[in-house]
Amino acid sequence: MVKVAVMGYGTVGSGVVEVLCRNAELIENRAGTAVEVKYILDIRSFPGDPHEDKVIHDFEIILQDPEIRVICETMGGIEPALTFSRRALAAGKSVCTSNKELVASHGAELIALAEENRCNYLFEASVGGGIPIIRPLNTALTAEKILEITGILNGTTNYILSKMEKEGAKFEEVLKKAQEKGYAERNPQADVEGYDACRKIAILASLMSGKTVDCRDIYTEGITGITPEDFAYAKALGMAIRLLAVCKAEPDGYMAAVSPCMLSEDNPLSGIHNVFNAVFVCGNMVGETMYYGRGAGKLPTASAVVADVIDCVKHQGTHIWCLWDREKIALKDFGQVTGRFFVRTAVSDEAAVEELFGTVEKIRLPECPREFGFVTGEMTQDAFARKAEKLPGFLSRIRLKD
Ligand code: NDP
Ligand code: HSE
Repeated sequence: MVKVAVMGYGTVGSGVVEVLCRNAELIENRAGTAVEVKYILDIRSFPGDPHEDKVIHDFEIILQDPEIRVICETMGGIEPALTFSRRALAAGKSVCTSNKELVASHGAELIALAEENRCNYLFEASVGGGIPIIRPLNTALTAEKILEITGILNGTTNYILSKMEKEGAKFEEVLKKAQEKGYAERNPQADVEGYDACRKIAILASLMSGKTVDCRDIYTEGITGITPEDFAYAKALGMAIRLLAVCKAEPDGYMAAVSPCMLSEDNPLSGIHNVFNAVFVCGNMVGETMYYGRGAGKLPTASAVVADVIDCVKHQGTHIWCLWDREKIALKDFGQVTGRFFVRTAVSDEAAVEELFGTVEKIRLPECPREFGFVTGEMTQDAFARKAEKLPGFLSRIRLKD
């Protein structure tokens, strides 16, 4: 029998307890021993909850209890999650987490600490909710040089964009629904401004490169500027709008970015709706692979945390290999990254558009009589910004996924 503690009894933490209870028998078979929750650490008490008797408020109880071999950190945020994780790992207790903010900022340090203490710091749930993506990168794809990872990595924003696209729903109303469903971050700005997707691509980029990719170096743009008119233009072009997180290994270095993109309806990522996420991984030998599933929510995320718990139980006293060095890599200057852009501008800009962008096909929508849209040729981000500045009636732009 292995006893575990769950820190943070919210959406994910309560799901972890539920998965461990409901699937107890098969988890015992797969872990080779029974796995039981002994403590649930939270700030609040939960009167009437079936696990009320396990709720504690003092981390020291978990730390000092030699029976606790594995801890699930589902509190979120940097502190006190970082201090608790460091102390647990230093004491040889494995930690399984869904906390991508902490993994993105301190992943390399915590993995090294786990290795020193012959235990594990596992974080499958930190990217893509219930989708297996960390484990494939660390096991099945280890023979590959990973050339590209492109993903829809945030369930809340994909839910919002899907509802705006298919039902003409209003941004604020759908965000509220996503919060009610437990998809959103405590501060939903992290979702809608792209920071959450940025943390996730930083984690994947770090695993891809084996070094540390710092979130602060990743160009990040959220979905707050996307309007119903943008969806109308996208439809006219046979495209969808998705928040994409990208990391590419290019001959002159790694590039990474998060931004809303228009992508052709032929691109499989355009068919990812609602809370679902998908991650496309391209290796130099295997070619294209793709991983799909629920990117947020209680049970899908909890399932990934519990899979990590089972791995920790099966590997007691040994460290599971994970290459993520603390050395930081410098990303390519995003201003020099090339791409194409969909642009909306005032009708009065027609001549200026021809002069700056050459001959372009104009897209006109009856519901937007004072403007038109067009797609540019390939150019750097900096070159596009200089041209857009010269359009007096410039309204907006969305990047095109090539
Ligand atoms: P919740 O806010 O629902 O749960 C967090 C819980 O931890 C709350 O009960 C909170 O208490 C408690 N808590 C906070 N600080 C402390 C502390 N110092 N000591 C003890 N308990 C504490 O968040 P989620 O479950 O949604 O998310 C948890 C983590 O998982 C986050 O890092 C999130 O980004 C990540 N995640 C979430 C997913 C989702 O779908 N929700 C999916 C994948 C990852 P109180 O409410 O009183 O503050
Ligand atoms: N807020 C996150 C999302 C939770 O919507 O994707 C899953 O990481």
